[in-house]
Amino acid sequence: MEPVTSPNGGSVQGRHALHERFSNRITVNTELTRKAVSYQGNRRVPGLRWMKYKEGFSRGLVERLIEEHRPRAVLDPFAGIGTTPLIAGSKGIQATGIEIMPVGVLVGKAITHAANGVSKSAFEAVSGDLLGRLSSNVHAPAEFTFSHVDITRAAFSEETELAIAKARQFNSTVGDYALRALLNVACMTVLEDVSYTRKDGQYLRWDYRSGRALRARMNKGPIPPFEHALGARLFEMTQDIEVLKREYGGISPDLVVGSCLDSMQELNNASFDMAITSPPYANRYDYTRTYALELAWLGFDQARFADLRQQMLSATVENKTKLLWLRQVYKREPGLLNNAIGMYQNQAAIHEVLAILNKHVGELSNRHVIRLLEGYFQEMAIVVAELGRLIRPGGTVIMVNDNVQYHGEEVPVDLILSDFAEQSGFNCENIWMLPRGKGNSSQQMGRFGRREIRKCVYRWVRE
Ligand SMILES: C[S@@+](CC[C@H](N)C(=O)[O-])C[C@H]1O[C@@H](n2cnc3c(N)ncnc32)[C@H](O)[C@@H]1O
Repeated sequence: MEPVTSPNGGSVQGRHALHERFSNRITVNTELTRKAVSYQGNRRVPGLRWMKYKEGFSRGLVERLIEEHRPRAVLDPFAGIGTTPLIAGSKGIQATGIEIMPVGVLVGKAITHAANGVSKSAFEAVSGDLLGRLSSNVHAPAEFTFSHVDITRAAFSEETELAIAKARQFNSTVGDYALRALLNVACMTVLEDVSYTRKDGQYLRWDYRSGRALRARMNKGPIPPFEHALGARLFEMTQDIEVLKREYGGISPDLVVGSCLDSMQELNNASFDMAITSPPYANRYDYTRTYALELAWLGFDQARFADLRQQMLSATVENKTKLLWLRQVYKREPGLLNNAIGMYQNQAAIHEVLAILNKHVGELSNRHVIRLLEGYFQEMAIVVAELGRLIRPGGTVIMVNDNVQYHGEEVPVDLILSDFAEQSGFNCENIWMLPRGKGNSSQQMGRFGRREIRKCVYRWVRE
């Protein structure tokens, strides 16, 4: 028999009603293994293997979806390193990707540069010159020193700092824009390997050799010198150039650096027949911390870090409401924003969870998870409403996302977003569960028992 109250003794009625409504569309899809869906599938894929963008899609997933649906124009409003637009573009499909972090977009653009115009021999030559510069004993002037922010300080050994500065100096002298972009990507993508850090869950984890005051001692194992890691990456990139020319030559997907919360508004009605996307999950994962080294390499100072974190889709406890800004964005035509806010305000399951969390606010590990959930669903309501405006009748949205749980309360993200989708002109056809969900945190498990949280891929078809 279904429980009538939640682990905190609150109502579950709203969530049960939503589950009842969608239950005939929820199925386990055995083909959607972690490897088939996520970055793990890209480890050997030319171009996409240059950066370990762990949050990325696998090439195989996007290829399969495009094969099945044969769209003419594809959108990804959360494009990451551009897997969707790159793969779609390689099949001759018009493709647009919007991504707020320049880190991923630079890799995506470097792949298109490599595919269009960069000659293998020119890249080999300039790579050799860069490695030659690293082996010289002449230090780079101070202006080329890596500009650290608080969360990256002490990430590199002294030798690595010196080598990075030499590389920055060398890259600045390369006149050819595409070659320079490729060299910069090569350097940026080895920063984690040569550092005392490891991308891990919500934060960077630090190796004890960094000398930082740490709560837990982590030993990352051998850390390669910068020139070795860079040499290996440059070799890999050189090897990939010819393959990329064959696979991606002639394509130019539109890769936009910006927030989809204002950029989608500028796209024309019914201009896409498919969206393949994965937004940040509502799980407190902070991309700006995970990609701190890469952002600092790109010149982000403390203020720009804080700014970027606020502009990203609300998914951390630091995010504050964007409503005032959104009202400005939608000033001329507020209809879609008002509808989206209405969908959020009338969504019973969200407010059921928020009411319980508010009642237990003193017991939460961080009370700002309430603000996180409010922001996340308000903003995702806008994204879903925009998709409803942008996708042509008969078109499809595929969305990959995880459910979350706070203080033992299940937040059925899949059902809530599918409810928004059905109010925005879509039929929710499928909510495919990955065969393995995600366990709850050990803290929550101790208190509320073991519970697997659904990881899903949704398929919504525009009426
Ligand atoms: C789960 S990842 C998507 C990865 C992508 N599917 C790929 O293959 O690389 C979510 C992405 O959304 C981006 N993001 C967060 N807030 C955004 C916003 N407001 N507008 C556009 N992109 C945003 C993050 O930087 C992150 O790269």
